[in-house]
Amino acid sequence: MEILRYPNPILRKKGAAVREITPEVAARAKEMLEVMYEAKGVGLAAPQVGWSAQLCVMNPASRDDRSREMVCVNPVIVEAEGEVVEDEGCLSFPDIRGNIPRFSKVTCRYYDLAGNRMELVAEGLLARMFQHEIDHLNGRLIIDRMTPASRLKVRSALKELEREQRTPSRVAVR
Ligand code: CO
Repeated sequence: MEILRYPNPILRKKGAAVREITPEVAARAKEMLEVMYEAKGVGLAAPQVGWSAQLCVMNPASRDDRSREMVCVNPVIVEAEGEVVEDEGCLSFPDIRGNIPRFSKVTCRYYDLAGNRMELVAEGLLARMFQHEIDHLNGRLIIDRMTPASRLKVRSALKELEREQRTPSRVAVR
């Protein structure tokens, strides 16, 4: 399992709903948590590891406090309010960060790995993480949400990522 980078087309696909929490789904989610910790991230969505499904893993404390880790199956935001603009990055965009407006408070519904129906009201970092990961599940990325000023700033770094992504296929064709 490895983290795919922009502009890999899988990142633009809407993930399919998870119909059943099988042992395989649970095992993949646990592996995603390890991959996320390895990359020093706080959230990772299934499409980022090439799995086009409505599932994400999160831990606002990263690996410092594993009791706070969450696996969210079929998560949705059912209520949202307020707005806050903050600096944000993404594991699929190494070295790229920008200002992104988000709701300051969201109510999320999802299933945990045991199949329990969960509802959670999130504020601050956790609210931002939910919005970021649920965006991934719908093929939406940080560059779609950045303020115009931030987008302009990251333009050349984005071009660089696009070039990197093209290189391997060019080599394979030869
Ligand atoms: Co991301």
